[in-house]
Amino acid sequence: MRKKIVAGNWKMNNDLNESISLINEIKEILVDRDDVKVIVAPPFTSLDSVSQLLRGTEIGLSAQNMCYEDSGAFTGAVSAKMLKSVGCEYVILGHSERRTLFGETNGDVNKKIKKAISESLIPIFCVGETLEEREAGKMKKVIKKQIKKGLKGISEEDFSGAIVAYEPVWAIGTGKTATPEQAQEVHAFIRNLLKELYSETLAENTTIQYGGSVKPENASELIGQKDIDGALVGGACLKADSFANIVKNA
Ligand code: 13P
Repeated sequence: MRKKIVAGNWKMNNDLNESISLINEIKEILVDRDDVKVIVAPPFTSLDSVSQLLRGTEIGLSAQNMCYEDSGAFTGAVSAKMLKSVGCEYVILGHSERRTLFGETNGDVNKKIKKAISESLIPIFCVGETLEEREAGKMKKVIKKQIKKGLKGISEEDFSGAIVAYEPVWAIGTGKTATPEQAQEVHAFIRNLLKELYSETLAENTTIQYGGSVKPENASELIGQKDIDGALVGGACLKADSFANIVKNA
């Protein structure tokens, strides 16, 4: 049985004090569930402090990005080792905001996934199509390319345990959620791609989260779909009560 995973991507929100307040509130109101893993992804500057406040809890810590290099002259970049050193276990890679606003390519994402795995960080590998691509009937082609190029040269053994997140770009931050049927269709498609690339076992064991305007009101219907194993939440994770309610409804 795949475990459901609900992750909160704080994006570029919350300075250090705000991060501390939010994580304390989340800890206070979140009800631990055996069947749902909860992860938070604060900005880099808050990772260390949030990590300390998460000690002794079941909540996992994720970064929102990282560099594929180990160290050196890469101004502004953060390495996998640095993330590990502040207690990260997960890292979001290939988020559509990284791809569209910062020009990350499938090749960059591939290098990052390889580096994350080699440093024992669990990647949360994001894929998703734009509205234009969907309307032009290219959705499956785009996702297939993101998956194939993103996972190029990565073995089944290395990829097992990694998380995939389907985030249709048109649903991110727009309030326009994919319908449960639309999301389920793509999740099943991704699971089938994983089966083709690897094996039925890997495909059946891989958690595929949905992201894009997930709220407490739509979480249970989305996550109730056969191939939807949780959520990657943006806006609605910035308030402790709505994040906790999404976890509750998962
Ligand atoms: P929203 O929930 O704000 O649409 O963001 C989704 C997302 O991008 C999570 O990574």
